[in-house]
Formats: sequence, C-alpha cells, structure tokens
Amino acid sequence: MRRLEERILRDGKILSSTVLKVDSFLNHQIDPELMKEIGGTFAQRFREKAVTKVVTLESSGIAPAAMTALELGVPAVFARKRKSLTLADDLYSAEVYSYTKEERNSISISKDFLSAEDRVLLIDDFLANGQAVLGLSEIVKQADATLAGVGIVIEKGFQDGGHILREKGIHIESLAIIDSLSGQKIRFQKEDVTV
Ligand code: G4P
Repeated sequence: MRRLEERILRDGKILSSTVLKVDSFLNHQIDPELMKEIGGTFAQRFREKAVTKVVTLESSGIAPAAMTALELGVPAVFARKRKSLTLADDLYSAEVYSYTKEERNSISISKDFLSAEDRVLLIDDFLANGQAVLGLSEIVKQADATLAGVGIVIEKGFQDGGHILREKGIHIESLAIIDSLSGQKIRFQKEDVTV
C-alpha cells in the first residue's frame, strides 16, 4: 500500500537491523486517516471471504482491526493479554512467546464472542516471528471457527513469521513487506514497491 510505505519511509525510525519504530502513526499515536485507508484495503482484499468477525491482539492491532471491521460491517474482538476485572471465566486461551520482547503472554478471548459459525479475519500490526498469529489461530481452532485469512500492516520479511504461516496454507495479505532494515535504510520487498 503506497501511502503506508511512504509513511514508513517518512516517519519510521530504525532502532536496529531488526526493529522499526512507528510510534507516530501506529504503535502509540494513531493516524486515523491512515488507519481508515488500511481498514478499507483489508476489507477489499478479504471481501469475498464472508468474514463474520475480525480478531486481533491488544493493543496495537486494535486500531487497524476496528477500521477493517467497520468496512466489512462485522464486530472486532481483541484478545486480552491480561485478565481484566470483567473478563468472563469461560475463555479460549493460548500461549504466545515474543522473541522480540523475550516474554510469554497468555492471551484470551471470551467464549461469548467467538463460535463455530464464525469466519475469522485475523489482523495485526506487525508480523515478525508469527507467534501472535499462531496463538490467535489456536484460539480460532478452539472455538471450531474458520480462519478466513490474516491481514498484516507491516511484515518484516526477513524474519520467519510470513514463511511459517504461508507454509501452513494460510492466506496472508501484508500491506507493507520490509525486506531489510540494515545500513540505516528501509527496503521494501520489490513486488510491493509501487513508488
Ligand atoms: P510475532 O508475534 O510475529 O512473533 O512478533 P514478536 O513476538 O516478535 O513481537 C512482539 C511484539 O513486538 C508485538 O507487539 C509486535 O507487534 C512487536 N514488534 C515486533 N517487531 C516489531 C518492530 O520491528 N517494530 C515495532 N514497533 N514492533 C514490533 P506487542 O507486544 O503485541 O505490543 P502492542 O501490540 O501492545 O504494541
């Protein structure tokens, strides 16, 4: 998505050869216009998949997931990393290990919001090692729901996640795929570069 790539080039900060900071429009401050376009693009790419629910993981997946759900006319559900005061006892849960943060989280969704009739579109802000998407798809499986596809805002193509998920036959749409962050330069995957 051209506008997203331009924004990454303009405002993204390379923290290391593996980590990109995009706090000014995605991970801290949110650009609602950009999120709207992201939601519209995901909706367009998954329109034929008869999605009934958009599912993400708190916190940075919520904005793009909500915009996608709005465009598709379905609810958005976010998995929680912490138990909240009001979170039901009846939960689907999975373990997610973050290689980036070196921490393990138990993620949960109430059984009230996912069922066997659902066709689920998973949305997340970053795809690195694929652990978040694998944890979310485990929850989809526990609910006997159908995984309709996965929408990623920024895929780091030089890490394993995309490969692992595509090998499983999962339909993934990434709006920007970064090939490399080395040498203080952001390089997008060739076929994704439209500029
Ligand atoms: P994985 O799910 O693909 O395996 O990714 P990983 O565990 O490595 O990522 C853990 C967290 O770090 C996720 O956020 C993910 O979005 C974020 N992350 C991974 N790589 C980058 C990067 O290059 N830049 C930025 N800005 N974030 C990255 P999270 O813990 O769920 O945080 P949040 O959603 O609450 O913001």
